[in-house]
Amino acid sequence: MKIIDLKIKEKVYKNKKTQLSILNNLNLEVNVGEKIAIVGESGVGKSSLLNIIGLLDRDYDGEYTLFGLPTINLHTSELAKWRNEKIGFVLQESALINSLTIEDNIKLPLLYADSRKKEFNSKDFESIINAIDIQHILKKKPLECSGGEKARAVFARGIIMKPQIILADEPTASLDIENRKRIINLLFKMNKEFNTTIITVTHDLEIANRHDRVIHLERRK
Ligand SMILES: Nc1ncnc2c1ncn2[C@@H]1O[C@H](COP(=O)(O)OP(=O)(O)OP(=O)(O)O)[C@@H](O)[C@H]1O
Ligand SMILES: [Mg+2]
Repeated sequence: MKIIDLKIKEKVYKNKKTQLSILNNLNLEVNVGEKIAIVGESGVGKSSLLNIIGLLDRDYDGEYTLFGLPTINLHTSELAKWRNEKIGFVLQESALINSLTIEDNIKLPLLYADSRKKEFNSKDFESIINAIDIQHILKKKPLECSGGEKARAVFARGIIMKPQIILADEPTASLDIENRKRIINLLFKMNKEFNTTIITVTHDLEIANRHDRVIHLERRK
């Protein structure tokens, strides 16, 4: 079954003086439970594509059917619910809230979820924390953590809702080999156990090749 059916004619970034057109004639179809890696040089549009897939950006020329529904018809409340519960974001610019502890940051999505889902997910908290080894920073604030520790907290927050799709933008970029393994193993474990669809942007070809498909984005020639 198809979970993502996206046809982009183009995405245009407009400034006063310049206009940049990217993701030209890009078609992406993804089946439920597929693992997709997206690679391509810096500036080609990988993060822009994830923003579109994750419904953070709806300003482009194209058509997008997600979970079998044309996204053009989605209302704001549905959008917010989908983004919180069905789609897990581990994005490059994902920021933690500095006034909250790491634990509260990770549990933030639970605040907005309905109660059944909430209970269900707080059980998973422990296993996620153990799998990526961040027990020791739970009571710390983000500013007291290293870059790699923060990256792992962002990852935990992105998957705590057990979303149907995980969008990960270079989730291992700031990590050492051991922690890279932990993140990728957990990502793939979720895929295996819950059939979670995984879309990973990475510059690491070894990681890319462990996905079912690798999509190379290229500039328009
Ligand atoms: N909000 C914006 N306004 C204008 N231009 C933008 C904006 N966001 C991105 N761009 C431009 O769009 C292009 C694609 O950016 P994007 O962040 O998607 O690239 P990327 O493939 O993720 O690169 P990287 O590997 O460096 O993360 C770049 O040339 C970038 O400068
Ligand atoms: Mg990027």
